[in-house]
Amino acid sequence: MAAGERFPEGFVWGAATSAYQVEGAVGEGGRGPSIWDTFAGTPGRVVGGDTGEVAADHYHRYREDAALMADLGLGAYRFSVAWPRVQPDGRSVNPAGLDFYRRLADRLLERGIEPWVTLYHWDLPQALQDAGGWASRQVVDRFVEYAAAVYGALSDRVANWTTLNEPWCAAFLGHAAGIHAPGLQDPATAVAAAHHLLVAHGQATRAMRALAARPRLGINLNLDPVTPASADPADLDAARRIDGIYNRLFLDPLFRGRYPADVLEDLGGLGGLDRAGEADLAAIAAPLDLLGVNYYRRWVVAARPERPRLGGPASPWVAAGDVEFVASDRPRTALGWEIDPTGLDELLLRLHRDYPSLPLFVTENGAAFEDVPDGHGQVPDQARIRFLDGHLRAAHRAIRGGVDLRGYFVWSLLDNFEWAEGYSKRFGIVYVDFPTQRRLPKDSARWYRDTIARGGLDGRP
Ligand code: FCB
Repeated sequence: MAAGERFPEGFVWGAATSAYQVEGAVGEGGRGPSIWDTFAGTPGRVVGGDTGEVAADHYHRYREDAALMADLGLGAYRFSVAWPRVQPDGRSVNPAGLDFYRRLADRLLERGIEPWVTLYHWDLPQALQDAGGWASRQVVDRFVEYAAAVYGALSDRVANWTTLNEPWCAAFLGHAAGIHAPGLQDPATAVAAAHHLLVAHGQATRAMRALAARPRLGINLNLDPVTPASADPADLDAARRIDGIYNRLFLDPLFRGRYPADVLEDLGGLGGLDRAGEADLAAIAAPLDLLGVNYYRRWVVAARPERPRLGGPASPWVAAGDVEFVASDRPRTALGWEIDPTGLDELLLRLHRDYPSLPLFVTENGAAFEDVPDGHGQVPDQARIRFLDGHLRAAHRAIRGGVDLRGYFVWSLLDNFEWAEGYSKRFGIVYVDFPTQRRLPKDSARWYRDTIARGGLDGRP
């Protein structure tokens, strides 16, 4: 093996999940309903009418799952806390909810695995949605209270924290496209939700810092490079606009203290972002210790001036509805996402170049494929191995290029509830036979275990 393919000493090898996608037990331990219970329970919203009611039953099987992680040699496990377990009505704290996460964190630590907590991976308590949800400013105070409650309970054993998972998805898939909970289709509301998510992140970060200085705080952003389909100025502008609403709308206020002027102009006052006050902007820019990057794909875009700019009623592309996402002949995952590892090093190098150097972690990367057990307890998933290998090589190129990349988390440890796709799309390196809840490490799990043990990549799989 070329020595250059070894990762630095101390590189964090992890896997990730999120609460609603794996826990199940939605009515246990005093948990209240979340917007995802409501959304998934509404006919027509999720493929096959699937819900997270049982999911991968991680709530009951976390000990077995921690043992599995230890077998793989994982150094870290990123999971999210279900807000409605901790505050079933969005306000009063349910000690049994916090206890579950204490037990989970302790079990991981016993197994030598670092717990990484994400506070919000999309499961807002339904009671808070009923009070206006992320469209309403009041949710900010609720999030700060929630963050302080979880932090107070777990910061003695959890060192790495992220506030929000992918605020772009929460805001735009949930409030403009309507394909995620709460299923709204209103561009201005989506933009307002994005702002409230960011302010909630910033205020919670400050509040957590005030409680204890030791833990490391960050956020997870879904970031993708955007490439123009041609050198035509209209295509270049299309790429600028998609990059703006998708990447810079979040990166700039977090790391430069202001929304990007060109995006504000594109939005033309929509959602009131141009009126964001100094106090909000200062809160959003609260200093962070790390940035979690979730990378899945690259976008290639072209201008389609004949289409409406605001986007149709079910488009997440607010102020960029006149942009076409151009397909290439690259291989695709089972979700139809094009596979392009070069987007990952391009993205990491750009973050390193354009934003203050902050330790970076790839906190999600992975792929859905049609995995089928072979009848002998094996799940041959060579395509996923190739996917992960290619992306780890990209991560390694980024490190060689000077990026301070400190770790990598596969999405996902387990097959799970893939949001609007239900259980039809499998992202796990461990296969879950949902009727029996049996876990079956796929070939990719063994490949990941060997990669971790070696501290890097071997020859191409
Ligand atoms: C990300 C989500 C994660 C999972 C992957 C496939 O956008 O954060 O929960 O669904 O996509």
